[in-house]
Amino acid sequence: MSSPSAHAVDLVVFGGTGDLSMRKLIPALYHCDRDGRLAPESRIVAMSRGGLTDADFRGKVDAEVRDQVPVDDPELWRRFLGRLHHVSVDVGGEDTSGWAALNALLGGFEQRDRVFYLASPPMTFGPFCRELEAAGLVTPLSRVVLEKPLGRDLTSAQLINDEVGAIFDERQIFRIDHYLGKETVQNLLVLRFANAFLEPIWNSLWIDHVQITVAETVGTPGRRGYYDQAGALRDMVQNHLLQLLCLTAMEPPARNDKEAIRDEKVKVLQALRQLDEASEAARFTVRGQYDGYLDEPSSTPPNDASKRVETFVAVRAEVKNWRWAGVPFYLRTGKRLPRRTSEIVVQFKDVPHSIFPGGSPNRLVLRLQPEEGIQLHIMAKEPGAGEVALKPVPLKLSFGETFTARVPEAYERLLNDVLAGNPTLFMRRDEVEAAWRWIDPILAAWEASGDLPEPYAPGTAGPTGAHELLGRSGRVWHEEA
Ligand code: BG6
Repeated sequence: MSSPSAHAVDLVVFGGTGDLSMRKLIPALYHCDRDGRLAPESRIVAMSRGGLTDADFRGKVDAEVRDQVPVDDPELWRRFLGRLHHVSVDVGGEDTSGWAALNALLGGFEQRDRVFYLASPPMTFGPFCRELEAAGLVTPLSRVVLEKPLGRDLTSAQLINDEVGAIFDERQIFRIDHYLGKETVQNLLVLRFANAFLEPIWNSLWIDHVQITVAETVGTPGRRGYYDQAGALRDMVQNHLLQLLCLTAMEPPARNDKEAIRDEKVKVLQALRQLDEASEAARFTVRGQYDGYLDEPSSTPPNDASKRVETFVAVRAEVKNWRWAGVPFYLRTGKRLPRRTSEIVVQFKDVPHSIFPGGSPNRLVLRLQPEEGIQLHIMAKEPGAGEVALKPVPLKLSFGETFTARVPEAYERLLNDVLAGNPTLFMRRDEVEAAWRWIDPILAAWEASGDLPEPYAPGTAGPTGAHELLGRSGRVWHEEA
């Protein structure tokens, strides 16, 4: 049964047979279907250069996706496969027959919502939109979804935004950052703005510093070509980590709506202290590269860019406003680290006057993955007679144990919002550009310095510089506390 609100949508995925589509988008769409959130007439059209027929594509999805999702009703799975189509298009090529084929498929259904999901490299976004428009496929009910990375610096991001903006209105453009679809990220807003007790202490009077960590155990096998050009700062910090920082630091919005929330996030980005001087970038950022990166399998041999690219980055950021003056936000992300963890740690100040020996400050830990949940580390007395001995113990909320419902994957939630036309969890143009404005000087300073990233051994917590970044002010990363 589809939900009464589900209306018919034609969803066209450009890059529809690629890795993202097969691992994330198609499984997420299946879940939407299984939960009754796809209207019976809705269709999913994969576009690629692959020359597949509808039957080929359905066979591919059957072979590659079926094992990734719970197929408890074979009839539903057959119906889902029946929604799938494939159209071969060569964007930028001479042959326009693909556009004619897409027109034939979508023609006559102009009253339906149309979603064009661009799961392709950013330099294709502009040409794709132009060809789409030239083919007469953009209707007033069309939306376009842009995957990250949106450019590689401010200038290229502005160019993409201009090109896409020449065809679509801002309200029709959905710039995706899949971290915004993660359950705990949603919960951060609820924790902050649906509970009264935190707001009075959510400021520099009470908070010593914030740590935002996205650690991965995976390296970059098969992706070195992309990664050489990106690096951790562009791949993770410009988008995912800065979004987490925004949600942690933003002022309470007046309403839970798309503009109010995004307005507050932009203000945080605009308040970030710029690391303009080369000396500041050297002091407040740390780059690392894991040993063995240059030997990762790749279609291209390692070159100069490979040697210079960072697979680990740590930055000390500051939000220059009344609430956060003097509170460092430490951001850190890296590949081939010992554990896969994404978390936001808010460390409170120590008690103003301690009457017990051995105490440590309170910490609030928001765990995004794995084991999503919230922990508040408080000091408790260890049981026993004699001297009072303190021990930090966590008050724990585990989402998995507290809520039995299936937690949707980030892409599922975001696709659902795209289908419903709700852009709250997508980045507005000014947000993306404000993020690049802060990133660009760091990239420029690194480039100018000519220094190479510090090496670190896979399976360790990154380069030593990352520890010094906090150690200078007597602080330590959460797992070392
Ligand atoms: C992507 C990056 O945006 O996020 C990848 O391009 C990274 O390099 C991935 O591995 C991490 O996402 P998640 O959801 O697994 O934490």
